[in-house]
Amino acid sequence: MIPAKTIDDILSVARVEEVIEDFVALKRRGVNMMGLCPFHDEKTPSFTVSPAKGIYKCFGCGKSGTSVGFIMEHENLSYPEALKYLANKYNITVEEREVSPEDRAVLQLTDALHIVNNFAAEHFTKNLLETDEGKAVGLSYFKERGFRQHTLDQWQLGFAMSSGKAFTNLALEKQYNLEHLQKLGLSTQYESDFFKSRVIFPIHNLSGKIVAFAGRMLSKDKNQPKYLNSPESEIYNKRKILYGFYFAKTAIRKADECIVVEGYTDVLTLFQGGVENVVASSGTSFTVDQIRLIKRFTDNIKIIYDGDPAGIKAALRGLDLVLAENMDVRLVLLPKDEDPDSFFKKSGQDAFSKYLDENAKDFIDFKTTLLLSEAGNDPIKRSHVLRDIVSSIALIPDAIKRAMYVKQTSSKMEIEEAILIAEVEKDLQKLKKEQQQQYHREKLREDRNNFVTEVIVNPEDGQVEMIPTTTLPKINDEHQERDLVRILITSCDLMLEKNGDVTVHEYLIPFVEENIDFLANKAYKKIFEFAISKYKASQKIAFKDFIHHEDADIRDTAVDLSISKYAFANWEEKGIFLQTQQMPEENFKKDCYESILRFRLRVLKKEINELEKMILENSDEDKTIDIKVLQQLLNERNEIAKELTQIVL
Ligand code: UTP
Ligand code: MN
Repeated sequence: MIPAKTIDDILSVARVEEVIEDFVALKRRGVNMMGLCPFHDEKTPSFTVSPAKGIYKCFGCGKSGTSVGFIMEHENLSYPEALKYLANKYNITVEEREVSPEDRAVLQLTDALHIVNNFAAEHFTKNLLETDEGKAVGLSYFKERGFRQHTLDQWQLGFAMSSGKAFTNLALEKQYNLEHLQKLGLSTQYESDFFKSRVIFPIHNLSGKIVAFAGRMLSKDKNQPKYLNSPESEIYNKRKILYGFYFAKTAIRKADECIVVEGYTDVLTLFQGGVENVVASSGTSFTVDQIRLIKRFTDNIKIIYDGDPAGIKAALRGLDLVLAENMDVRLVLLPKDEDPDSFFKKSGQDAFSKYLDENAKDFIDFKTTLLLSEAGNDPIKRSHVLRDIVSSIALIPDAIKRAMYVKQTSSKMEIEEAILIAEVEKDLQKLKKEQQQQYHREKLREDRNNFVTEVIVNPEDGQVEMIPTTTLPKINDEHQERDLVRILITSCDLMLEKNGDVTVHEYLIPFVEENIDFLANKAYKKIFEFAISKYKASQKIAFKDFIHHEDADIRDTAVDLSISKYAFANWEEKGIFLQTQQMPEENFKKDCYESILRFRLRVLKKEINELEKMILENSDEDKTIDIKVLQQLLNERNEIAKELTQIVL
């Protein structure tokens, strides 16, 4: 358990934009900040952060929450774990018991796996720095390759001993779970060590946790792979990880560019040499997930290929994706037989950067050059190249960019521009059709979900039938309740002048309390009940009390309601800045009165209906009083309706 005081401390310092910026590049848009949503794939930002409110919301996928919520969602952590993460980020001490072997078993699996990896990493670094074998073999190897002590420490480089069981035995002795060790690929099924006589490169995830290891062999044994990598596990999905990203992300954002190299040592050498915006796709070819990871920080990718063109053609295949993601990708081929590590050491930082600047080509240019050099003068091969390039160009979403590439390719391949344009157009039509079909499929699915249906199981043959029902959801009531709760949450401590010195809170609560059963939505009801209890205890209530509430229903609903779509839409950018309509925050008084009136109207309508029914049904009783009351209710209804002129009775 984390003490409440500590939780308060954490929540008061953990600014939502700071927490999120560790994972998403945000740009200021008026009072808000925007970036690419980390929770779904998108090409234009709809992920919005409101520093003033302390919350985020994605208008694409609908995810929203506070700083704690973001960490829970993004890092897949529980509430207390997320708090601990934030405490750590802001150097707040959380008093907690030592983790005992019994507790360890209870910890969530992922947590446990991270702990095991941490233990392994510590073990490997100890081997490297403190054992004779480690120093003689591993450390001297790293030193020989030019890695300084600071680099070794920062990247937690290590060494796995040649003796085959020492690590596993120690781990088991320390009560680490054999199953976990095997899952992580640290121990084999025979309970011996997986990494032997290798230098170790830990692989970190975006938040700096070790998710896997790579071990490089030091002998020249041709029967062994040069690098051994941990298997995939609950915490390691190699398609989603880029080696070095955790260390590089700040520099990537600053430079607004990500350099991608092939190898672990390439990353280390460049990083140590001052080029810090560098990552490696480590062994696999680039995946869409990796590209999207980068896209959250920058649109500019520079990929450096070792100076051996043989493997490049295969690598290029995956890269069409980068075009479709509308990223600016440049490629550089190093001089023959060089890799970034060797070339950087040879040339130094300045010459290295200069080489990159001078030799970086855009994707289409790079691909055309490479393919043409292979095709030579063979007309059939050249036409294949053309087809290939055309299909790449068609993937570029930006029409102006496409036109530029068409021009460039036409001169490079000596093909008339008009022909190229026609070819690209054909491809575009095809793509468009596919997209349309996709869109329709999704729309259909959505419609089906929105439609109220009844499920009937035929008792004879067990067939399930979906029946559209006539009772559609009461959209208006729902909207109105939403408004009411939204006002309570976002404007509760604001003052209403009209009624003297009352806050919105004080104005709303007594009224809603009388009619609380009118709230059909469970979460809304909970929110009001919470507010009412505070009110009755004469306690002040503030926005943060809702968004940090212990009840997830209240928390999530509060965050969701506090963000209205039009307050966040980037009107300014679209050149249609709000002229007639005020922002909701400035509008709260009017909103508040109106909402109450609407709610009151709803209550009245129901009372009127009931009374009318009563009067009609009980034909022989004296109805004068009832009719009087009814008349009063009708009068009140008409008054309110007059005030709310836009309401149609
Ligand atoms: P390289 O063979 O180019 O190695 O593989 P390197 O990175 O230059 O390493 P050094 O400089 O010889 O120490 C490039 C990358 O491909 C992956 C690794 O990520 C490596 O860094 N790889 C290579 C493997 O995963 N397994 C292998 O057996 C070889
Ligand atoms: Mn190398």
